Amino acid sequence: MGSPFSQVDLRLLKKYDRPGPRYTSYPTAPLFSNSFTNRDFRREIVDTNGPGSSGDISLYFHFPFCDTLCYFCGCTMVVSRDRKRIEEYNHFLKKEIALVAPMLAEDRRVVQVHWGGGTPTHLLPEEIREMGEIIRTSFRLDPSAEMSVELDPRELLRDDLLALRDAGFNRMSMGVQDFDPRVQEAVNRIQPEAMSRQVYDWARDAGFMSVNIDLIYGLPYQTKTSFEKTIRTVVRFAPDRIAVFNYAHVPWLKPHQKLIHPEDLPTPEQKLDILKMTIEVLSSEGYEYIGMDHFARPQDELARAQKEKTLYRNFQGYSTKSGADLYGFGMSAISHFQSIYAQNTKNIPEYYKAIDGGDFATHVGYRMTDDDQIRKFVIMRLMCDLDLDTRAVEKRFAIDFARYFASSLKLVEEFEEEGLVIRTPGKIAIVGAGRLLLRNIAMCFDAYLDSMTKDKPVFSRTV
Ligand SMILES: C[S@@+](CC[C@H](N)C(=O)[O-])C[C@H]1O[C@@H](n2cnc3c(N)ncnc32)[C@H](O)[C@@H]1O
Ligand code: SF4
Repeated sequence: MGSPFSQVDLRLLKKYDRPGPRYTSYPTAPLFSNSFTNRDFRREIVDTNGPGSSGDISLYFHFPFCDTLCYFCGCTMVVSRDRKRIEEYNHFLKKEIALVAPMLAEDRRVVQVHWGGGTPTHLLPEEIREMGEIIRTSFRLDPSAEMSVELDPRELLRDDLLALRDAGFNRMSMGVQDFDPRVQEAVNRIQPEAMSRQVYDWARDAGFMSVNIDLIYGLPYQTKTSFEKTIRTVVRFAPDRIAVFNYAHVPWLKPHQKLIHPEDLPTPEQKLDILKMTIEVLSSEGYEYIGMDHFARPQDELARAQKEKTLYRNFQGYSTKSGADLYGFGMSAISHFQSIYAQNTKNIPEYYKAIDGGDFATHVGYRMTDDDQIRKFVIMRLMCDLDLDTRAVEKRFAIDFARYFASSLKLVEEFEEEGLVIRTPGKIAIVGAGRLLLRNIAMCFDAYLDSMTKDKPVFSRTV
């Protein structure tokens, strides 16, 4: 995909900076409702695991606990160092595995496992090994399964990484955010460069085949110059992937973000300058822009999947495993099959109570309509391929694209006039700075946006 941003147009980015979904799902999570119950979820599992079912499976496990609070955090996490509390959670996670695993059709292979958080590496090495063993013996893991884990270098010991390797993990993502001590202090996350370097080197020694580093732009006291130092340091580490997230400041959803003083945040203009610099430096250092904050080396499987148009988007971001049914375990975890979403409760006592009673902990969910399926496909292909074969959509769903999406295409016209989208017969291509505005372009195809955002703020800003 090369370096598309010879000149990142700040005017356009500014024009389109507005709240919008990240489209890790369509419809997006605010549409999930409690009219979809744990009984619906159970029935769906039974129906999709009848005799002869053989579709691939992806597993997600949520580990909410963290050692300390990062003031910027937007994740579903709980700060606790109480080992008993963590053990108790693991106990219920194992019970949930024991509830679900026997319901899966025998022939279904697990091709992807992801541990997210919170901080999965807040588990002790022996807990990591035990949980890995339980997963291995409960499911039919494909020998080449992609197993990835999110880790926090601040509390990591070499033994944790070895335990993760023993548990079968072959990919990892580590949180760095920013190397500047002043920024680290302002967000309550002290993590010297040497500490991150040590963990990175251990991971390479342990044979992790793909390493990602997470950064965030838009944090307090960041400047273009300070963040450029961070970016150049990360490039010297030479990770396979780099995620540079736009700081989502949503204090109405995450009250602890009020600990970040708005006057310390970079202005929208400074943020755009930081973003422009980030893209230019990473592109010139040989990283390809995948889309939505993600960069990868050309030989990395994400970049390769994008070229082959087999990239996929799920709750963890971009993925190469399209079409697998996702089973989520743990508080807040989301499952997604062909036509349903089901999310576990975020309330830990409620989660324990449901699992203890042999029930699913489904709190909200959603059953997709035919229209949702069509729009999901369109949004997914735009976000992953950065273009859309409209004839393929017509064939797949037996629709007349121009007629079906008449009102969406009206909205797309504005992006065309700005040179961000090019439409030719049978194709919609996102070009130039339009690739930084994927959310905005996808929003043209979202049927629910107006009804969701009318009364209250729901989404973070797009730039
Ligand atoms: C679950 S954490 C990663 C693992 C571990 N807990 C850590 O922080 O190192 C996932 C990532 O989300 C990103 N993140 C967290 N809060 C965010 C926010 N408000 N806006 C943008 N990115 C955020 C951070 O880059 C973080 O590394
Ligand atoms: S950023 Fe990571 S370590 Fe920090 S509070 Fe959030 S989940 Fe925990």
